[in-house]
Amino acid sequence: MTDTGKTRRAAKVPSSRLSRLANLGGLAGRVAGNLISDGSREWMRGNRPALSDLLLTQRNVEQVADRLARMRGAAMKLGQLISMDAGTLLPPELATVLERLRQDAVIMPAAQLVDVLEANWGHEWNRHLKQFSFEPIAAASIGQVHRGISHQDRDLAIKIQYPGVSRSIDSDIDNVCSLLRMSGLLPRDLDIQPLVDEAKHQLRLETDYQHEMKEMVAFAQALEVFRHRDAVHIPGVERALSTRQILCMDYLEGVPLQNAAQRHASLRDEIPAVLLELFFCELFQLHTVQTDPNPANYRYNLDDERLVLLDFGAVRHFPPAFVEHYSTAICAATDRQPQVLAQSLEALGFFSQRHDAANREVVLDIFIEATEPLRTPGLYDFGNSDLARRIHARGKAISADPNAWHTPPADVLFLHRKMGGLFMLAAQLGAQVDVNAIFNHYRTHLDSL
Ligand SMILES: Nc1ncnc2c1ncn2[C@@H]1O[C@H](COP(=O)(O)OP(=O)(O)O)[C@@H](O)[C@H]1O
Ligand SMILES: [Mg+2]
Repeated sequence: MTDTGKTRRAAKVPSSRLSRLANLGGLAGRVAGNLISDGSREWMRGNRPALSDLLLTQRNVEQVADRLARMRGAAMKLGQLISMDAGTLLPPELATVLERLRQDAVIMPAAQLVDVLEANWGHEWNRHLKQFSFEPIAAASIGQVHRGISHQDRDLAIKIQYPGVSRSIDSDIDNVCSLLRMSGLLPRDLDIQPLVDEAKHQLRLETDYQHEMKEMVAFAQALEVFRHRDAVHIPGVERALSTRQILCMDYLEGVPLQNAAQRHASLRDEIPAVLLELFFCELFQLHTVQTDPNPANYRYNLDDERLVLLDFGAVRHFPPAFVEHYSTAICAATDRQPQVLAQSLEALGFFSQRHDAANREVVLDIFIEATEPLRTPGLYDFGNSDLARRIHARGKAISADPNAWHTPPADVLFLHRKMGGLFMLAAQLGAQVDVNAIFNHYRTHLDSL
């Protein structure tokens, strides 16, 4: 039933600051130990390894991943933000670590799970349901998802948060930062403070499942205007059983998108087409975007042929002025108009004093390059496109000089991440989509939206 449970282990999720710090302390010792032993081995072989090479040995990477897994929510959130911005500045090992984190969730032991249920639903928590399965059906970033049946026979997905997550956000994020720096995975001179602050803010919102519940209900309502509304399905919520730490909603049957596309070849193109169209509708029409394009947030129901949309913790609302500048930027990039693009990016606070002229050029170039699918007439073949490689190659021109590096506004980062994630998903499915036609539909309606 789950496709995320392959590598999971049951281990108590540390809920106190102290145990989290203890985890880190042990790691520092071990990294230092490996450094000495691996380093002396290299010395014996007559090599003089650079310190950074030693810090990034496979063994260290694994230990760091292991420790990060205990602070998974904080690590994932920070990782997402760092990797979408400074991606090209970071060693590929960091991507390996983050990838492992995504797959390798820790499961709460039953006793800890019951503590959370009791704290939220009271001592007679099990009276609220007809059935509850202790075995989680899926991992969440800061919790796990269970299945249950209500007394009204409603089939439920119940997202249950690890204890203590919301109390320790600040220290977790700071610890993850120290850990990444200590391991050499994050360059010491890279200023990621704005991203760190954003990660804390975002995580604080995401630990309040009541907030997610409201966003989910509002999103489903707003989406009534979407012209393919019938093609998507958002779970309804079970308010009476939802709290800050427990989000209770309809369990929606579905398979991962890859599986759906394997079953019916036409879905390979149709699913990304709906998702891309949904994105433009969210941004231009609703000014509200679900910003987390993780493929696990989508499933496909082969029976009713609907796309299941999950995970509304990272919904962002954009002010009208922002949408205006951003849509001008996208249109200018699509039309290859660097001057107009520069002006609108300026208005979005994209460039700082520290950006020199050469870097500005690169940023504009990347933006224009990235809109290739929007400008290409007819079907865009994501599967055979080397767009990601080209963007990455251009990004390297910026990363050569961390001093000239500047964190773009978070609002922009989230949108880039979403669009990048959707392009990647389309590439993975080998989709061919007429993005140009979809974009033009929304573009011509921009004034009236
Ligand atoms: N309503 C639901 N129906 C079926 N599966 C669900 C439902 N909600 C969550 N899941 C499963 O749980 C996983 C994690 O849920 P999600 O809301 O994405 O958590 P997170 O916000 O931590 O990413 C999903 O990828 C999906 O597999
Ligand atoms: Mg998710």
